[in-house]
Amino acid sequence: MGKRIAIIGAGPSGLAQLRAFQSAKNKGTEIPEIVCFEKQNDWGGLWNYSWRTGTDEYGEPIHNSMYRYLWSNGPKEGLEFADYTFEEHFGTNIASYPPRAVLFDYIKGRVEKAGVRDLIRFRTPVRRVEYSEEGGNFRVVSEDLVKGTETDETFDHVIVANGHFSTPNVPEFEGFETFNGRILHAHDFRDAREFVDQDILIIGTSYSAEDIGSQCWKYGCKSVTVSHRTAPIGFDWPDNWEEVPLLSKVEKKTATFKDGSSKKIDSIILCTGYLHHFPFMEEGLRLKTANRLATADLYKGVVWAHNPKLFYLGMQDQWYTFNMFDAQAWYVRDIILGRIEVPGRDQMLADVDARVAEEDAIDDPYGPIVYQGNYVRELIAETDYPSFDVDASDQAFIKWKKHKKQDIMAFRDNGYVSPMTGVLAPPHHTKWVEAMDDSLESYLQI
Ligand SMILES: Cc1cc2nc3c(=O)[nH]c(=O)nc-3n(C[C@H](O)[C@H](O)[C@H](O)COP(=O)(O)OP(=O)(O)OC[C@H]3O[C@@H](n4cnc5c(N)ncnc54)[C@H](O)[C@@H]3O)c2cc1C
Ligand SMILES: NC(=O)c1ccc[n+]([C@@H]2O[C@H](COP(=O)([O-])OP(=O)(O)OC[C@H]3O[C@@H](n4cnc5c(N)ncnc54)[C@H](OP(=O)(O)O)[C@@H]3O)[C@@H](O)[C@H]2O)c1
Repeated sequence: MGKRIAIIGAGPSGLAQLRAFQSAKNKGTEIPEIVCFEKQNDWGGLWNYSWRTGTDEYGEPIHNSMYRYLWSNGPKEGLEFADYTFEEHFGTNIASYPPRAVLFDYIKGRVEKAGVRDLIRFRTPVRRVEYSEEGGNFRVVSEDLVKGTETDETFDHVIVANGHFSTPNVPEFEGFETFNGRILHAHDFRDAREFVDQDILIIGTSYSAEDIGSQCWKYGCKSVTVSHRTAPIGFDWPDNWEEVPLLSKVEKKTATFKDGSSKKIDSIILCTGYLHHFPFMEEGLRLKTANRLATADLYKGVVWAHNPKLFYLGMQDQWYTFNMFDAQAWYVRDIILGRIEVPGRDQMLADVDARVAEEDAIDDPYGPIVYQGNYVRELIAETDYPSFDVDASDQAFIKWKKHKKQDIMAFRDNGYVSPMTGVLAPPHHTKWVEAMDDSLESYLQI
């Protein structure tokens, strides 16, 4: 069809886009020329674990924010691909909270089957994206890190899929420069065993805080103290775990909190979230949004309202992940193929406003799950992505939240019903607190 498409990133979102086009091609549709740029040497995005922190061998910032012993924090029944079930991949029905290596294997399985690896230029970060009004297309400058060469090309569409949980948000607190211990952000956390026998202080109360705290607790730290800016997490934590107000200062190894209380600590882990960071996008094309369900400036959560030839995937805060990225990728594909029309700018911005208002009106603790489930349902209804039981996924997430409240150190011992096959997952062979080996072989007992 003569068009050229650039996809930035070969994580789950970028791979969903490749799979969406390949699926149309399989059905006899002529598809555009596609180039997927990926700065790492393999696909899978955050699921492609690296021991490295800081910069890599080429001086590039490390993308990985995952760590050893990371198990899925939500049930797999919430993220299952509708066109490639867990049962199809593993040949059996597996438990609900797989470790990272198992999910990485699942992600790879679908795209290996689809045969799309040749469309990816690995070790090739995008350096600059600009729009040419004159040409009606995008200039994309990328760098081949291995050869040390730069390439300057034009594309009709750009799909930004570089994720938004990689560039850390790093606040500073009084006394940090003289603290006699290690201070790190969750992005650089790799192995809980580093903190054995330590009193650790965690700043932040979201998923990184609860999971990194739980990892350190499981692998033998002495105590966990979690400091909140807004509100405590409020689970029924183990005895050597406490929740305190925001840190006000540290002196040598003593941390003092807003209520005047203090505690001796060995290490500080900033679980303070991430920045949406697109240094390679020219200013007028750059998404600026908070980490929320209704992103700024994206019609239907994906189309850049100020230039609908540009798309962003996976930029929402996430309950739903892999199948939401699929829903988005199929939708974007169909706009590019001319099967779906986008309205004018004002209508697109009105759609954004309506989504923001609907999210702001949520007052039920399970509301965000249903909201994002509805969004997935809305998108898949407009394409040929295989329809699936989104209610069953919502239910898995709702039960997950309840299970966490019941016992935060045991929620991963539960199983849920697959929205694709209707089958209830079996319990894992070992309780999460006792399962120290996170390898695929150990999880699948092969
Ligand atoms: C610690 C942690 C744990 C998580 N655990 C879960 C979980 O249990 N379950 C779940 O469903 N989700 C989890 N997530 C959410 C995660 O965001 C998604 O699962 C998923 O990885 C997002 O996919 P993505 O493709 O949008 O982004 P990413 O996975 O971040 O992939 C983006 C890709 O873009 C590449 N890239 C970046 N910049 C450039 C550039 N300039 N040029 C070329 N390539 C570039 C990167 O190298 C990377 O491969 C977790 C996130 C974190 C941080
Ligand atoms: N095992 C797993 O699967 C796993 C593990 C970890 C993370 N994740 C994923 O990683 C993603 C990111 O989660 P996240 O927890 O890193 O980020 P997040 O959800 O964006 O939460 C950021 C936290 O940092 C706090 N914060 C930000 N700035 C602060 C400041 N200046 N001072 C004090 N507190 C501050 C926020 O507090 P306020 O509430 O006050 O704003 C919030 O609690 C999520 O998708 C999550 O699911 C998954």
